[in-house]
Amino acid sequence: MSSPKDDRKTPPAAGGMRKGLTNYGDAGFSLFLRKAFIKGAGYTDAALDRPVIGIADTGSGYNPCHGNMPQLIEAVQRGVMLAGGLPVKFPTISIGESFAAPTSMYLRNLMSMDTEEMLRAQPMDAVVLIGGCDKTVPAQLMGAASAGLPAIQLITGSMLTGSHRGEVVGACTDCRRYWGKFRAEEIDDTEIADVNNQLVPSVGTCSVMGTASTMACVAEALGMTVPGGASPPAVTSDRMRVAELTGSTAVQMARDGLTIDRVLTAQAFENAMRVLLAIGGSTNGIVHLTAIAGRMGYDVDLKALDRMGRETPVLVDLKPSGHHYMEHFHAAGGMTALLRELRPLLHLDAMTVTGRTLGDELDRASPGFAQDVIRTRANPIYPQGGIAVLQGNLAPGGAIIKQSAADPKLMEHEGRAVVFEGLEDLANRIDSDALDVTADDILVLKNIGPKGAPGMPEAGYIPIPRKLAKAGVKDIVRISDGRMSGTAFGTIVLHVTPESAVGGPLAYVRSGDRIRLSVERRELELLVSAEELAKRAKENPVQVPTAQRGYRKLFLETVTQADQGVDFDFLRGTQAMGALPKA
Ligand code: FES
Ligand code: MG
Repeated sequence: MSSPKDDRKTPPAAGGMRKGLTNYGDAGFSLFLRKAFIKGAGYTDAALDRPVIGIADTGSGYNPCHGNMPQLIEAVQRGVMLAGGLPVKFPTISIGESFAAPTSMYLRNLMSMDTEEMLRAQPMDAVVLIGGCDKTVPAQLMGAASAGLPAIQLITGSMLTGSHRGEVVGACTDCRRYWGKFRAEEIDDTEIADVNNQLVPSVGTCSVMGTASTMACVAEALGMTVPGGASPPAVTSDRMRVAELTGSTAVQMARDGLTIDRVLTAQAFENAMRVLLAIGGSTNGIVHLTAIAGRMGYDVDLKALDRMGRETPVLVDLKPSGHHYMEHFHAAGGMTALLRELRPLLHLDAMTVTGRTLGDELDRASPGFAQDVIRTRANPIYPQGGIAVLQGNLAPGGAIIKQSAADPKLMEHEGRAVVFEGLEDLANRIDSDALDVTADDILVLKNIGPKGAPGMPEAGYIPIPRKLAKAGVKDIVRISDGRMSGTAFGTIVLHVTPESAVGGPLAYVRSGDRIRLSVERRELELLVSAEELAKRAKENPVQVPTAQRGYRKLFLETVTQADQGVDFDFLRGTQAMGALPKA
């Protein structure tokens, strides 16, 4: 048995319990104390004398998307031990999309801070981050990027699909579709209750290409998961094998000192942007990727991203842009098949968590086969990237639209604004028969930006006014400074920057103004003169939201706009690394 004195002579790389030895000034005593306390859990010296792999446990009764956490942790622990490491799990905040008020986005930065500080505070040589639901993977990657140690992402995995009266259904594009039918009185109370049982038939994350699936694919494209780590559904043996492999890979990363800055490079972020565009990914993915890149000191240049989008087709045929679900994407070969198809557009020398480059991993992967979920570049779902960046006097800092999920007929459109001042105003009037609205109008919703609601809720998917829905209207142009769920579809302009709550031009739009949207020209114009807007601003200046105390005060005082990733300004990396994409 080794004594604390012996351990002090051991090189630091031999075991994680040596990190931060000098907390109390006496390195020997500090280590002696730590070992004494961890032995309270029944460890022997032999168990402690090996790389320590932290496992961030984000299981929660409020988060069924992480409902397979116990099995995942068991598999990760097995992988860690098979590779000669010591697994130590620890809890952090968990955010379940459907149960976080006022919006999960309000809490993403808090989870990132929890993750970062727990990685800094606790002795570990590498960490396995287990996340899945929308905000958890970005929060973990943001925190780990800032903490700087070797880190690997494990995705919880998607839900299975369900079946309703002979039709395949899944969360949550179909949740919206069925609710839309119910609002339009096309289906009755019994049917809406029946489908409610089938939309989420297992634990795991939403089964379409929503934000969770998008961030899973983005994490793999960044090189932050083991190859093939994005797509296995939560309840499959493939997912458990990925978990075991993640554990053993983490031990190797600890031994090699493969820190996160060697993986999250400019090349990796550009690969992730390509993938985000090619999967028809969630618009939220841009905000999250911007925030993660910001932690490494990179700015995302939306105009350059749009140029990249013009040469990156959508290849993945998943809802809401296409037809299939994540389990089909997995069966079709998952990210390996997609990355192989995108190969000429990727930086193949980007490093991954395996210690091999993306190009090496693609060379080692099993060959592809004929399937109809991941298309070739010659036969895309959509000829350009899923997301277009708009500019104009209504959005001087940019706005975005998921063109692959929009109605082509509405993408070149001029119409009359029908304005809602905020969520309450919307709730009060959207279903009123007295609402003066036609299908040619443009719905404008204010005060749902980063500071507005606050937290930039997914309220940008403004419902079709009931009287139009009943008349069979399926889409209408909608504009806001908020976000929308990655599972939603429609001609919906989001992330208008600067937001209305801080006095962006959106604040001064009035019902009856004309607005012109041209996705082809990437334009979003309010057809009102600058003089008139200045006059309105003077007459009705905005009151920027404030709070007296607590997290809300911190949030409102430091949160950045959508084009900066809605991160807190003080969490950004301090070293300027340039603009992305460089392409
Ligand atoms: Fe968690 Fe959709 S609610 S991934
Ligand atoms: Mg979502």
